[in-house]
Amino acid sequence: MQGSTVGEFADLLGVPSGDVIKRLFLLGQALTVTQTMSDELIELIADDMGRKVRIVSPEEEFAVVYNDKEEDLKPRPPVVTVMGHVDHGKTSLLDAIRHTGVASGEAGGITQHIGASVVDINGRQITFIDTPGHEAFTAMRARGAQVTDVIVLVVAADDGVMPQTIEAINHAKAANVPIVVAVNKIDKPGAQPDRVRQELVEHGVIPEEWGGSNMFVNVSAKQKLGIDDLLETIILQADVLELKANPDALASGFVIEANLDKGRGPVATVLVQRGTLKPGDSVVAGESYGRVRALIDPRGNHAKQATPSDPVEILGLSSVPTAGDEFRVFEDERDARKLAEERAMRARLKEQQTKSHMSLDDLFNRI
Ligand code: GTP
Ligand code: MG
Repeated sequence: MQGSTVGEFADLLGVPSGDVIKRLFLLGQALTVTQTMSDELIELIADDMGRKVRIVSPEEEFAVVYNDKEEDLKPRPPVVTVMGHVDHGKTSLLDAIRHTGVASGEAGGITQHIGASVVDINGRQITFIDTPGHEAFTAMRARGAQVTDVIVLVVAADDGVMPQTIEAINHAKAANVPIVVAVNKIDKPGAQPDRVRQELVEHGVIPEEWGGSNMFVNVSAKQKLGIDDLLETIILQADVLELKANPDALASGFVIEANLDKGRGPVATVLVQRGTLKPGDSVVAGESYGRVRALIDPRGNHAKQATPSDPVEILGLSSVPTAGDEFRVFEDERDARKLAEERAMRARLKEQQTKSHMSLDDLFNRI
């Protein structure tokens, strides 16, 4: 069973709720029939009544095993995350790739959020994720979320390897994601692209031309030099990976950013990893759920659907999920709601318990 109210618990055991309330009271827990019992209390009271219960977590109840057959898998575009030290030119580089104006339009030139964008290179899609620091990426990795297929490591040729460069290398290694190095700012008078190569070798990132396995490209985001070369290299690297996913399934993936928009309510940018997401779908993202009211693509247009490797904004969620949360579409809206509500309830109970430092031992001490 799962966390339930006093009334539901009594019904399940087939006993009068007054009986449960009395036993709870004796434990120093004044709960009414509609209040929620924690897992500890459920176990304790059931035990008290000589009954055995098994607590099933919502994750357990709704667990799924994605068992796609080889013939269901279709090629999908690569998801590329751009990482590197502050100011080494991540946003400028993406900007050069997109031919837009994000970097110059940003407040103070610092990336405020993860931007997801989609680029079309001769009919081949690449999904890019820009990162402000590495927090969201760390959060996602901590939850076991593998969101990126390739990391483009941006290193400024006039500055060389810096702390966040090393951090990015460590992330890539831990997640087992290949690194393509973009040696940026080669237009600058003090640029030393070969020194960058030497410094990276010390961290185990070795250029192919030196017998290693990492592809390096010299670029200037500012003067738009080497951009085509970089894109070709990314595609080459992605092709080696033979990326595939099943598009004919209920959609699932991860939240890459989320916020509360004044006019539109909770907005979550998700990356679809499997299946096809459509307006009208019943979706859960962390403790949030809802029916997808609209899908907005990275160019700001309404989308009819999003398939594997597509980043897309979801409107219609009940609350703002957290970056790194898994999202999943359910056939039945009630299941979506149940999973989200149970997650939220558990989070609340956990919070209350940490606040009141209440443990099983404390409960026994009160008897
Ligand atoms: P954060 O998001 O704050 O970590 O920075 P970032 O890595 O996205 O760097 P951003 O693209 O904002 O660029 C930082 C500064 O470097 C800006 O002033 C850019 O104009 C400059 N810059 C970026 N690329 C180049 C380049 O190729 N050559 C020169 N000369 N300057 C560049
Ligand atoms: Mg930036």
